[in-house]
Amino acid sequence: MKCGNRNQIRRTGTGGMLCQKGCDTVAGQKVITDYMGLTGWIRRNACRNVLLVCGGSVRHMEAFGRHLKTAEEAGIKIISFGDFQSNPRYESVVKGVELFRRESCDSIIAVGGGSAMDVAKCIKAYAGMDGSGENGDYLKQRIVPNDIPFLAVPTTAGTGSEATRYAVIYYKGQKQSVTGESLIPGTVLLDPDALKTLPLYQRKATMMDALCHAVESFWSVNSTEESKEYSREAIQGILAHMDGYLQNTGEGNAGMMMAAHTAGKAINVTQTTAGHAMCYKITSLFGCAHGHAAILCDRILYPWMVENTDKCIDPRGREYLAGTLDGIGQAMGCRNAREGAGKLQEIFWSLGLKVPEASGEQFRELAESVNPVRLRNHPIVLDDAAISELYHEILG
Ligand SMILES: [Fe+2]
Repeated sequence: MKCGNRNQIRRTGTGGMLCQKGCDTVAGQKVITDYMGLTGWIRRNACRNVLLVCGGSVRHMEAFGRHLKTAEEAGIKIISFGDFQSNPRYESVVKGVELFRRESCDSIIAVGGGSAMDVAKCIKAYAGMDGSGENGDYLKQRIVPNDIPFLAVPTTAGTGSEATRYAVIYYKGQKQSVTGESLIPGTVLLDPDALKTLPLYQRKATMMDALCHAVESFWSVNSTEESKEYSREAIQGILAHMDGYLQNTGEGNAGMMMAAHTAGKAINVTQTTAGHAMCYKITSLFGCAHGHAAILCDRILYPWMVENTDKCIDPRGREYLAGTLDGIGQAMGCRNAREGAGKLQEIFWSLGLKVPEASGEQFRELAESVNPVRLRNHPIVLDDAAISELYHEILG
């Protein structure tokens, strides 16, 4: 097996995979769906001192707690770290790294939503680096790959963070993107029971986040045959399990968790596009959950794109893009892109999600908020006029 730089990949003593030349590339992620797998993971990696990075949701996970207790009875030391908030700060990560070192931890388990995953990913990355992390030190260094065993247990079906090489933390109020192949957890445990206590609004919003990941990845200029296959699979999985998931059935929860994870694999390849670039300010201005804000944008972007393929900037060309937009519709069980765009609107309205009303000043703020770097992944050029027009439709 070769890494992205065509170097040979070797299997490490702990079951992870690293490029022999030490470039920041890891391949392979194992997905397990039962807790015997957790016990096996601890044994296989010869874990003695495990750092457990967890949010509050861990309290509701009975099976997880039981298996962890069994591990403790067998002499494994579990060191919990939950000293972080949503939108986690760099300083919280540094505290986690200090705890990891002080307790001579040899492995990491992350349990929670996006914030717990982001914190755990950064602790894993920084634990193998030099220094104390003071004054943002780790942020200035290149990430050195390490093979610390890392298992992720997501407790929402939405972010897909457990499948990606990206983490977001905040330093002095500024958003910092931390990226590296070695941030990807080597093993993921999908436990649908973790979704049982999710409130309905969070359930809807996280599902829409996953759907937007799959759709945006599909049309991204960075898409590959592999990522499109992940997107297709995720869209089909989300639609197939939507009703059961909204009714909180075991099968619905399991299907949605797998679909959201697959959508995460798609954005790990491509990153997100204009829908996500435009949605962050909607969340901060109107308090909508992230996935709610993302579907507000994508349900308008999709039909707009169908009408504007002449402004295509994907090097594969306009016809390729038109075929891709049809492909999204087909993944949703429709004949073409136009029907697919209608279906996306239909899904949005069926969930009863609100459309906030924006004032003139807020429209200006929204238009100024869009990150141009993220727009580069979008296959159609979006100038200031188009962004302004789109925001008026999104919040109209
Ligand atoms: Fe998202």
